[in-house]
Amino acid sequence: MIFAANLKCNHSRASFELYAKRLNEFLGLNKREVFVFPPSTALLQGDFKFELGVQNFYPCINGAFTGELGKEHLDEFGVKAVLIGHSERRALGDNDELIRAKFDFAKKHKYKIIFCIGEDLNTKKENKTKEFLAAQIKDIDLAYENLILAYEPIYSIGTGLSAGSKDIAEVLSFLTSKTKAPLLYGGSVNDKNINEILSIKDCDGVLVGSFALKIENFINLIKSYKVQ
Ligand code: 13P
Repeated sequence: MIFAANLKCNHSRASFELYAKRLNEFLGLNKREVFVFPPSTALLQGDFKFELGVQNFYPCINGAFTGELGKEHLDEFGVKAVLIGHSERRALGDNDELIRAKFDFAKKHKYKIIFCIGEDLNTKKENKTKEFLAAQIKDIDLAYENLILAYEPIYSIGTGLSAGSKDIAEVLSFLTSKTKAPLLYGGSVNDKNINEILSIKDCDGVLVGSFALKIENFINLIKSYKVQ
């Protein structure tokens, strides 16, 4: 099982230092596959038992791209994992062309990619979820060995109401017909729904926002999966 925390625009470097220290201690005793995506200003250098990733980057090594971070900056922190395609970034202007360029760049440089997809409520109501998701993944290499696909329906992000298990199961099953990549679910994952979500067929883990902001909450989520 994969547990990933997207801290979004939260945490300072000082608070993330404590977060990372506590998580490292926990993972020293409990081996799990864990990713954490802090804000870029909170990236830390160090030897972590979790995979440290970035929520955003620009597909360049370095150069005249005001306000952006390139590979050189990620390398400084040993970052080997990136989030691409999150609906919040799409809403802020990441279009298909940029998302594709990010994917191709990250693949070329062998990053682990958590690629996010998800439909809004209207698309779901119109029964167009599958064709919408198929379009979102049509330009990426679904056979890329370091790919993880995260299904995050927009209507469930930050609302406190996760998608229904049946809906999640149906989408994940559809995605298995397209890729062998591990599949995550994201959208209002918390301590109440984690067991049900992890028991969904084809679900290989979760991508957690709000509930993972407090390290003890994130650790409790991780603990709720009993290693088989
Ligand atoms: P929430 O867990 O706050 O709904 O956010 C999910 C998410 O967007 C993770 O990337």
